[in-house]
Amino acid sequence: MANIVLSRIEKSFSQERVLKGIDLEIRDGEFLTLVGPSGCGKSTLLRIIAGLEAQNSGSVRIGERLVDGVRASDRDLAMVFQSYALYPHLTVKENMMTPLRLRDLSVAQRLPMLGRFLPGAAGKLKTMSQAVAETAEVLKIEPLLARKPGQLSGGQRQRAALGRAMVRRPVAFLMDEPLSNLDAALRVHMRTELSDLHRRLASTFIYVTHDQAEALTMSTRMAVMMGGEILQLDTPSRIYADPANRRVAEFVGSPKINLLRGDLDSSGRVTLFGRSLERRVAAAPQEIAVGLRPEHLTIAGVVEGEEIVTADVRSFENLGSDIFLHMSVNDGRETLTVRSNPEVAAHLSTGDRVRVGQLRGAAMVFGRDGERLRFEETTQLAREVA
Ligand SMILES: Nc1ncnc2c1ncn2[C@@H]1O[C@H](COP(=O)(O)OP(=O)(O)OP(=O)(O)O)[C@@H](O)[C@H]1O
Ligand SMILES: [Mg+2]
Repeated sequence: MANIVLSRIEKSFSQERVLKGIDLEIRDGEFLTLVGPSGCGKSTLLRIIAGLEAQNSGSVRIGERLVDGVRASDRDLAMVFQSYALYPHLTVKENMMTPLRLRDLSVAQRLPMLGRFLPGAAGKLKTMSQAVAETAEVLKIEPLLARKPGQLSGGQRQRAALGRAMVRRPVAFLMDEPLSNLDAALRVHMRTELSDLHRRLASTFIYVTHDQAEALTMSTRMAVMMGGEILQLDTPSRIYADPANRRVAEFVGSPKINLLRGDLDSSGRVTLFGRSLERRVAAAPQEIAVGLRPEHLTIAGVVEGEEIVTADVRSFENLGSDIFLHMSVNDGRETLTVRSNPEVAAHLSTGDRVRVGQLRGAAMVFGRDGERLRFEETTQLAREVA
């Protein structure tokens, strides 16, 4: 077991700077997700950790060992890709045996027919079979061991590929969008399975995805990447509730956070739709955006809410348990998404004008450069004076 430390990793492909000095410590046993839009450098970073790609500068340390220049096969990591890359002509068991054969048997012992009769081979093969059986039990794929990949469903194939990666008992699992070839329902199901597996194995998982929902559901911590940089590294709940800047706030959460034009005066007072927020920010007057997540807005009538604006219902997005109302405000110049329960939404139709309230204390303010502007701590006295 070991932590993995990346220091100032830089990578360029011809003229393009793809990774711009990445510093990241992956803790022993955590499920760390690299998440970000397509092309931001996630796979490149993972491949550098794996040793499949060389960085231009910076270093990778696994436990006590600097592994720069160490071949992928000698890093003791397991890689699971989007395409399962199982050998189609081998059974699941034979697929799972392959990495062990390569590691533990000599070239002669690997010979077809003959190899198994060479000295030492029988004992090794028995140990290898045991390792496969144990892994198959953990993944609940024992009944599939005799089948070939063509006879498996997508989820079963994914588990077999995981099994092949697991038998070697690697220091860490590196996964690059391993669920993206599965259909939507199976993908959601496999999220739970991977989380379970992580708990049971208690080993380090480094998981790449562009899907923020996947990252939110599975990770111990997630690193939000954009343009070759890590914008924020934290637990899913903190990334969601307390994004460091506008790009993270917009990337995480579905439907997206509402970003509304607000005003900031010289006393730090923030005004949204002509009403002042209770707390002040410590920043000079500038163009600002006020972020409110759909669940922080309510159709008026809710006790804790405070009415902020009237809005016109444009469309409904029905997710069963929740309905998201897409609305327009300011004569259609801005849009607003509000989460509503189905009972309330049932009384509404397109074109209706409704009052929208805001949950107190939920607003986030972003400055001209997109960074969060923090609220000043307000004491009771300061509030009364204000
Ligand atoms: N071998 C390569 N040669 C040249 N450019 C490359 C190479 N590999 C990646 N790139 C470029 O580097 C950038 C980052 O690629 P990378 O594959 O790391 O992105 P990603 O975040 O994994 O995206 P996706 O979510 O689409 O998989 C992209 O602009 C890509 O075109
Ligand atoms: Mg990728």
